[in-house]
Amino acid sequence: MARKIVAGNWKMNQNFQEGIDLITRITDYCESADLHNVEVVIAPPSIHLAEGAKVSRGKKLSIAAQNCSEHEAGAYTGEISVDMITSCGVEVVIIGHSERRQYYGETDELVNLKLKKVHNAGILPIVCVGESLEARKSNTHEDVVRKQLDGALAGFTDDDLDNLVIAYEPVWAIGTGETATPDQAQDMHHFIRKYLTKKFNAMASDEVSILYGGSVKPDNAKELFAQPDVDGGLIGGASLKYDDFVSIIESGSSVLR
Ligand code: PGA
Repeated sequence: MARKIVAGNWKMNQNFQEGIDLITRITDYCESADLHNVEVVIAPPSIHLAEGAKVSRGKKLSIAAQNCSEHEAGAYTGEISVDMITSCGVEVVIIGHSERRQYYGETDELVNLKLKKVHNAGILPIVCVGESLEARKSNTHEDVVRKQLDGALAGFTDDDLDNLVIAYEPVWAIGTGETATPDQAQDMHHFIRKYLTKKFNAMASDEVSILYGGSVKPDNAKELFAQPDVDGGLIGGASLKYDDFVSIIESGSSVLR
């Protein structure tokens, strides 16, 4: 069974104090709420990781990094390694977010190298895929996502899938207020599940959580999460507001099965 996850991706928002305060509040909420089978994750900026992990250690909230280097260590100014991330007590890493692909030139090959690093460290990768508006309009969205998956998962086997999360995030829905309809999300999630079943096997594919991301808000979360192949969400803007994120977590807790 795939894990059910509601994850917040803060991107480059919240200064240190604001960030730690919000992590503390969400951690307190998760501790006191009766959350059924849903895991809550927050991916703050990297400078918040160590303190964020300290605040939530042993509690019902996990901290994730938004990115990592494909290298082990060395002269790579500005980068952070998987070892640095795990040494802070952080055990989840987002890889290949569309903003990384778009603004920092990350390719499928690079995503594959990062995924291998995260996988080898035994921590949880959240690999992002998703098509542009152009691809959606020209009906090539499945081809785009297939190519991204082929690239990201090159060299992986059935056994590697028990610790993998994929986030489907259509680029046209990220930060635009435009959301994929529940049917569009379900169709693509089903396509990804079928892809995994074909490339690996059905049992391995069932273990992979497939999250939806792209303008998930309190008023659309329930309907999206209720789709059979949707295992949760990766939430950007709405994860920065305590009330909105809590409401989305509650939707997840009530409908994700
Ligand atoms: P959004 O971002 O919820 O603000 O659209 C989602 C994401 O980029 O992960």
